Amino acid sequence: MSNPKRSKIIAGNWKMHKNRAEAKALAEAIAKGVQGEKDLPVVVLFPPFTSIEAVGSVIKGSSVNLGAQNMDNHDSGAYTGEVSPPMLLDVGVEYVLIGHSERRQYFGETNASVNLKLKAALKHGLKPVVCVGESLDERDNNLTDAVVRRQVGAALADLEVSDLKTLVVAYEPVWAIGTGKTCESPEANRVCALIRATINDVFRSEEGAPAGDSVPILYGGSVKPSTIDEQLEQSDLDGALVGGASLTADDFLPLIKSAQKRIRSLVKI
Ligand code: PGA
Repeated sequence: MSNPKRSKIIAGNWKMHKNRAEAKALAEAIAKGVQGEKDLPVVVLFPPFTSIEAVGSVIKGSSVNLGAQNMDNHDSGAYTGEVSPPMLLDVGVEYVLIGHSERRQYFGETNASVNLKLKAALKHGLKPVVCVGESLDERDNNLTDAVVRRQVGAALADLEVSDLKTLVVAYEPVWAIGTGKTCESPEANRVCALIRATINDVFRSEEGAPAGDSVPILYGGSVKPSTIDEQLEQSDLDGALVGGASLTADDFLPLIKSAQKRIRSLVKI
């Protein structure tokens, strides 16, 4: 059974979409859609850097949270084009995506750089959402488990168990991102459980409990209103990181409602 104590999270990764006016309008519609609602999941929006402040001003005081899609691991310095953790905090950012597969694929991010960024995010009190997932080639060659285990292990290298308190992991099979092909729910759940087990291999709470049991693990890859209910029913899947279906309130709000329904059903059990 899914652990009702783990936060349920619905996160929208807007990627390189939306100018400020569009971003504001979408954030407004989402904030309005959840206004006054109870039993909500944690809702996080990840707009592009240029719209972060605009979105922040619109969602202020609402139950919607602000995130950034990337950051550099340095505090400041001669790093042209980069944005630092203190700069994100300065514009009100609370969450940050780390190691999204598009960053790994197109911008040279590696397991080692993901680890540096994760440590920097934690040092500054940003809540990290670390993304992992195999390519189609890796899946076809039965390398999914090895790749995901390696990515998780490397991302969390040198961390303390106390660092896991705000950690969120997103399992995003690369072949399912933006393709319309979702990973079958039982298989997505199996890999989410593997991620949890990988964390548990290394981290125990002070009382000796497996620390991964309290880390929310999201699924991402062509999540949409028609797939979310089955996905949220899975025992090790605590929410979704959503790209395409986060770009309109008509698609995104039903995802939040589904998570709300799931939260209510878990409370009843
Ligand atoms: P998608 O993107 O929902 O469009 O597949 C997910 C992601 O990249 O986070």
